[in-house]
Amino acid sequence: MSEIPVYPPSPEFVQRAHVKGMAAYRDLYERAKQDPPAFWADIARKELTWFKDFNQALEWEAPFAKWFTGGKINASYNCLDRHLATPRKNKAAIVFEGEPGDRRFITYQELHRLVCRFATVLKNRGLKTGDRAIIYMPMIPELPVALLACARLGIIHSVVFGGFSAEALKARIEDLGATVVITADGGWRRGKEVRLKDAVDESLKEAPQVRDVIVFKRTGSSLEMKAGRDHWWHDLDAELSKDPQTEAAAERCPAEPLDSEHPLYVLYTSGTTGRPKGVLHTTAGYVLQTMMTMKWVFDLQEDDVYWCTADIGWVTGHSYIVYGPLAAGATCVMYEGAPDYPAFDRFWRIIEKYRVSIFYTSPTAIRAMIRQGDQLPNSHDISSLRLLGSVGEPINPAAWDWYHRVIGKGRLPIVDTWWQTETGAIMISPMPGATPLKPGSGTLPLPGIIADIVDSKGEPVGENREGYLIIRQPWPSMVRNIWGDPERFKQQYWSRVPGCYFTGDAARQDEDGYFWVLGRVDDVMNVSGHRLSTMEIESALVHHPSVAEAAVVGKPHEITGQAVCAFITLKRGDWNHADLGKELRQWVAKEIGAFARPEEIRFTDALPKTRSGKIMRRLLREIVTTNAVTGDVTTLEDLSVVAKLSSQHDED
Ligand code: PRX
Repeated sequence: MSEIPVYPPSPEFVQRAHVKGMAAYRDLYERAKQDPPAFWADIARKELTWFKDFNQALEWEAPFAKWFTGGKINASYNCLDRHLATPRKNKAAIVFEGEPGDRRFITYQELHRLVCRFATVLKNRGLKTGDRAIIYMPMIPELPVALLACARLGIIHSVVFGGFSAEALKARIEDLGATVVITADGGWRRGKEVRLKDAVDESLKEAPQVRDVIVFKRTGSSLEMKAGRDHWWHDLDAELSKDPQTEAAAERCPAEPLDSEHPLYVLYTSGTTGRPKGVLHTTAGYVLQTMMTMKWVFDLQEDDVYWCTADIGWVTGHSYIVYGPLAAGATCVMYEGAPDYPAFDRFWRIIEKYRVSIFYTSPTAIRAMIRQGDQLPNSHDISSLRLLGSVGEPINPAAWDWYHRVIGKGRLPIVDTWWQTETGAIMISPMPGATPLKPGSGTLPLPGIIADIVDSKGEPVGENREGYLIIRQPWPSMVRNIWGDPERFKQQYWSRVPGCYFTGDAARQDEDGYFWVLGRVDDVMNVSGHRLSTMEIESALVHHPSVAEAAVVGKPHEITGQAVCAFITLKRGDWNHADLGKELRQWVAKEIGAFARPEEIRFTDALPKTRSGKIMRRLLREIVTTNAVTGDVTTLEDLSVVAKLSSQHDED
């Protein structure tokens, strides 16, 4: 551990930072630790705008938390309306660049107008508080507009990442019981159209509860509109302008005063079973913590230009493109397309063009950039940058070093932010004006976050020992439930260590108390910072008529961190492995989405199992990692299977 370099913040950074120096961090942390609910209540009153003050900071009947009960609030109001009475009203909220190069600059005032109009459109379709909307859109400004319009009325939204297939979309529409789908004809990715409306049509073949599909025209390509069900966004919007009174009222659509705990959104994420789980986030606590972390972690200042490169289809986009930054009054860059289109310098071009000062991306993106050499970033003026961030997976030292040296010119702080869909907001991260950095460590928990590392009995493991990362106390932006499945919620997160949240990650803490997150301990893979469930891909594969059994594991990958590797046993028949390999990869793309496609498929006669019939994924992981097997194999049903698996290697 002693060889790891330590980078203290520069005096210039400290001077301007919200939290200046370690003493200030420790002070804040200790104050919060004394009484976390009181700490959060204090800042909730100071930082959020309430329609009605709350009575109690926290009602905690483990594992069900209610934050700020009795309060009335609206997330959309906190992201928009309250800025309009300040000089921020004419500040850019969204700086948008489409992949083809089109641009839009949307001020807070204008964003408010767009959100009010679209909320009125939803109201006119008969939608009301408590209804559910599925949003399946490209990364264009109408996506945050749709989120904030739903939030304005208390309609619970669920964004489905545009890379998910019609099958995956259908499962989410059904689980949520959505009555409206908000989509677009398509979006641009690597110069090609990603056709979204076609997938919506496919998914709605058997979904009678969906009454309305609202389609934004982005690409202008031809598509079918089903009479009565499908409506163009611009047609519904044009109806609002039929007379001046109607239009004025639409543009003032009031934000509903909602309970603090009103469900804001459900975001489906992969778990340890074949079925994705709907992570439920509610209003006040979520907005509070995403907003506070904008200040603590990104040290957001009024003149910053902030860019998070995530897609709003994942939690990072929800918390750090929409709710956190807008509640904090930031100027956010939003980019529609791929980082390598038309060339691999698109990110640096965008930073140069809009003078981005805070840049938040993933280790996968960084590794892909490293491959292209230093010359691309070096040929752009990226001197506007003052802070860099990383999220989604552990950042390896080589990637950290490059990010620091080439993008940060050896002087910018890097905040390595650990969190999850379930935590809602960043939990463990440096505060850039305080925390000395160690490459690869998320460093220390933020104020109000009581994290620990324990063994399988729930006992703290102590310094430099590996164990399970847990959170001991509830926090405002925590997952409240799994949509429609409270039993799974209890079992999944709260049964390992009673009263504590189980993250599913392994970690250790060094002699300075720094956290080093090592990765998942469950059957969840992390591919390009996206969560994929081994079971979900397995259950897709076994639906194919040729497949008898499937076992999926993550194998190390230079760029994406992990890649999907599937071991397959086939039903009796005469199969051509090369063709079938291709077909099965395509099959997974259709069942889940192209990003879940196995990189490698290995056909085998049998899978290694314990005597009780459980597939020994640990062995398979070892095989794909080292192509050798070590450790305890005494519970193996048939040892010869292992020898065969190691020698067979059937890549397509
Ligand atoms: O394993 C951890 C990893 O990503 C998981 C959460 O994935 P998801 O819910 O999709 O959210 C991703 C974006 C927040 C975690 O359980 N992870 C995320 N950030 C880091 C990380 N692992 C190490 N270091 C990080 N900074």
